[in-house]
Amino acid sequence: MVEFEFDIRDLFPQEIIRVQPHLLRPQILSALLKDQNPKAAPPTPGYKLSRIIDEMGQLSAVAQGLRTAVTTAEKVVDNMTNHVIYLMADSESGRWAVTGLLKVGTKDLFLFDEKGECRRADQTPAILDFYIHESRQRRGLGKAIFDKMLADQGWSPCKCSVDRPSPKLLGFLGKHFGLVRTIPQGNRFVLYEGFFDDVPPEG
Ligand code: ACO
Repeated sequence: MVEFEFDIRDLFPQEIIRVQPHLLRPQILSALLKDQNPKAAPPTPGYKLSRIIDEMGQLSAVAQGLRTAVTTAEKVVDNMTNHVIYLMADSESGRWAVTGLLKVGTKDLFLFDEKGECRRADQTPAILDFYIHESRQRRGLGKAIFDKMLADQGWSPCKCSVDRPSPKLLGFLGKHFGLVRTIPQGNRFVLYEGFFDDVPPEG
């Protein structure tokens, strides 16, 4: 898990939180990150959340072998209207530490259905970045934060597109949600059978 030099307890009234984007407003974010000296003044929630998102985004990128992070506080600010970040923390080690990050959003996509016909799908639920710290993987934490996100967004797993899933995420989705059979796409998103059920064909 990931510890910080500041206390994170106040950010986590429960173990999983949805980040309130207004705390990361663009006009304050750059000033916070550049100028705030944590020793001089108590760090604000916005500063703490930005640091946590940057750190977890970086660890996620390393875990996936990516050269640049998919998730940074700055990118969250730029996509504030359609990206949502969930963070997970606990005090299992005796001190509150961050254990996971999940970023989701909606995308307007052109997708192939089971018959290979191209369809436009606006506002498609998308899993964009997902990371549980190596010291805590395979203990059900990923399932807990994913379930919280599904309930919060009102999404069902088979209606989610997944942006370039890693082998671990493919295993996770198969194990917990029975998502195994994919519908081939021409882009980097993976869709599972059931995605187009109940969606009337165009025309
Ligand atoms: N190897 C293979 N499968 C794994 C591994 C692993 N090392 N770790 C987790 N899984 C899959 C397996 O199906 C596992 O079930 P099993 O232990 O019975 O085999 C299941 O996930 C475990 O479920 P949880 O404990 O609920 O999940 P976890 O807390 O481990 O979180 C996650 C899953 C987020 C994928 C985690 O493994 C992780 O952070 N991996 C590294 C980063 C990553 O690959 N993220 C996804 C990138 S793609 C994207 O975000 C769109």
